[in-house]
Amino acid sequence: MIIEQAPPKVNLTLDITGRREDGYHLLHSLVVFPGGGDELSFEPSKKLELTVSGPFSAGLPTSADNLVVQIAAYLRSYFHVTSGANIHLTKNLPVASGIGGGSADAAATLRGLNKLWDLGLGRERLQEIGALFGADIPVCVKSVPCFMEGVGEKLSDQVVMPGLGILLVNPGVSVATPLIFSKLNYPKGEVGDVPEKVSRFGDTGSLIAYLKARFNDLQSPAVSLVSEIANVLDVLEGSDSSLFHRMSGSGATCFALYPSYEIATTAASAISSAHPDWWVHPASLNRGG
Ligand code: C5P
Repeated sequence: MIIEQAPPKVNLTLDITGRREDGYHLLHSLVVFPGGGDELSFEPSKKLELTVSGPFSAGLPTSADNLVVQIAAYLRSYFHVTSGANIHLTKNLPVASGIGGGSADAAATLRGLNKLWDLGLGRERLQEIGALFGADIPVCVKSVPCFMEGVGEKLSDQVVMPGLGILLVNPGVSVATPLIFSKLNYPKGEVGDVPEKVSRFGDTGSLIAYLKARFNDLQSPAVSLVSEIANVLDVLEGSDSSLFHRMSGSGATCFALYPSYEIATTAASAISSAHPDWWVHPASLNRGG
């Protein structure tokens, strides 16, 4: 059996830098992959089948509506694979929550079936195939801290991160990504300034200074549509020892950074006690995927 992890994708920054004629937004985003996400297993089988379990599996499609099934069917047909696969997805990440859970599952499927079916595809080829199915999938195939540009297909080399703790908090409200992008009203064909890229953040101070000078341009439209996001950001701002906080992706998950994983865990306990309905997930920042 082959096991693949699908760690959450967290956008520490997300600047919209332009918009293509087809409506897709160009962006510049520093992305990290804290541990502890979904898990997928792959076993040989005659048929191609997906089963799901886990805290966020309720209502998840196991048909061709699921990207995992779409990608598996594409790989099987494109590469003339005669066998199938039993794929099991343990869904630990909240759905439609700005941390790329579906994209991470899709990326893990590319990695897992590449091994199970012995396709011999390199990581860049898997990223290219992933881009056919979603803008966030290439970065999830790579699954290490890096910058993403274009609509998500241009990835930098791995960025060195300091050893901080990170806490992800979701108030239990799902957010439709296209709706948040549409609220931006960014003119088609416009291209703005592209922020600088950095290859390493050697210490906490340099990372926090960089983050403070940048934005998540989707945060204001998301907060205006989903008021719970403002509550989460308030709680993270008031959390002991929090160094920095912001929303990830198109929301509603927000993150805060802490001096260590242990301190993030202590903060998680306090927030969970006060908000038992929220999803609260402490992790290490610099763990590659
Ligand atoms: O790639 P994904 O399917 O997650 O994107 C969902 C929607 O978000 C797209 O259909 C598009 O409306 C919007 N989007 C965008 N620019 C991007 C990524 C997504 O406008 N770079």
